[in-house]
Amino acid sequence: MVLSAADKTSVKGVFAKIGGQAEEYGAETLARMFATYPQTKTYFPHFDLSPGSAQVKGHGKKVAAALVEAVNNIDDIAGALSKLSDLHAQKLRVDPVNFKLLGQCFLVVVAIRNPAVLTPEVHASLDKFLCAVGTVLTAKYR
Ligand code: HEM
Repeated sequence: MVLSAADKTSVKGVFAKIGGQAEEYGAETLARMFATYPQTKTYFPHFDLSPGSAQVKGHGKKVAAALVEAVNNIDDIAGALSKLSDLHAQKLRVDPVNFKLLGQCFLVVVAIRNPAVLTPEVHASLDKFLCAVGTVLTAKYR
């Protein structure tokens, strides 16, 4: 998934708007993913997944921080998320299909919380970025 210069600018713009609310975006993304695609809950048997739980909030914060890290290193997402890629592909073995589900939920959260920012062009760029992150996190299966 190759991001154009315009895609990168758009993605950075979205995250600039999200700013300090990234943790909330992350937690709401997870809450929506677990509610809409309950099969994703199978990876978190050790979590309290009830709405607003401290664990969902805490994990949302980590996921959001990883996305911010990817944006801050948008020319080398694979390098920036290398350790996370090891974790997801080699240890957790999350089925790649789930990354699309998480990406969809993140797009919905951006659309709800910040509708003006999500023009069709920005939507497409953000989708490409989330696909790129998913590709990196599922690149090390063997
Ligand atoms: C852990 C990021 C997608 C399942 C993590 C951690 C981060 C992260 C930062 C914490 C790593 C650590 O504590 O060192 C992301 C990002 C994703 C993504 C950026 C996509 C944009 C997914 C998906 C699933 C998943 C789709 C499964 C549906 C898990 C699990 C853990 C984890 C089970 C371990 C949780 C724990 O026991 O603390 N992820 N993740 N991740 N992730 Fe992901």
